[in-house]
Amino acid sequence: MTRTRLTAVDEVPENGSFLFTVRERDGTEEEVILVRCDPGADGDGENEDEGGAENGDREETVRAWRNFCQHETDQRLDRGFGAAVREGEVVCPKHGSMFDTCSGYCDNGKAADSYLSDVEVTVDEGVVYLTDPGVRYSHDGGIDDGDDGPSSTSHLSF
Ligand code: FES
Repeated sequence: MTRTRLTAVDEVPENGSFLFTVRERDGTEEEVILVRCDPGADGDGENEDEGGAENGDREETVRAWRNFCQHETDQRLDRGFGAAVREGEVVCPKHGSMFDTCSGYCDNGKAADSYLSDVEVTVDEGVVYLTDPGVRYSHDGGIDDGDDGPSSTSHLSF
């Protein structure tokens, strides 16, 4: 399995997100947000093995979601300064629908009864790795941040 180092778990904000860009199988670039997930926060821990990563330590669990709302897919959740995360939910900046950070599920507002689109990541000893076979790491930040030359050598794949 190929995995690419993304960042340390500690670098993922408690009330925000870590933004990076991947290349999809069809060659298009897509932004992805890493967010903290505390399965014990709202009793929604039964989906721990879906769409994300956990290493047995609840404090170090993160999830990765493609950076768009399910109500209007051109609406980014993180518009360049971190997604709004409140009490275990990602808040859409346009109409305020809230998505569970662990399951990606929304049960409210305009995006009700939908799930965010997940990207597979894995946590190993406090480090978050991209392990989704369907995408390749492109660079940190948003799509528009990728024009500055080669990405950092800290993102080694192995
Ligand atoms: S665009 Fe996100 S809830 Fe409408």
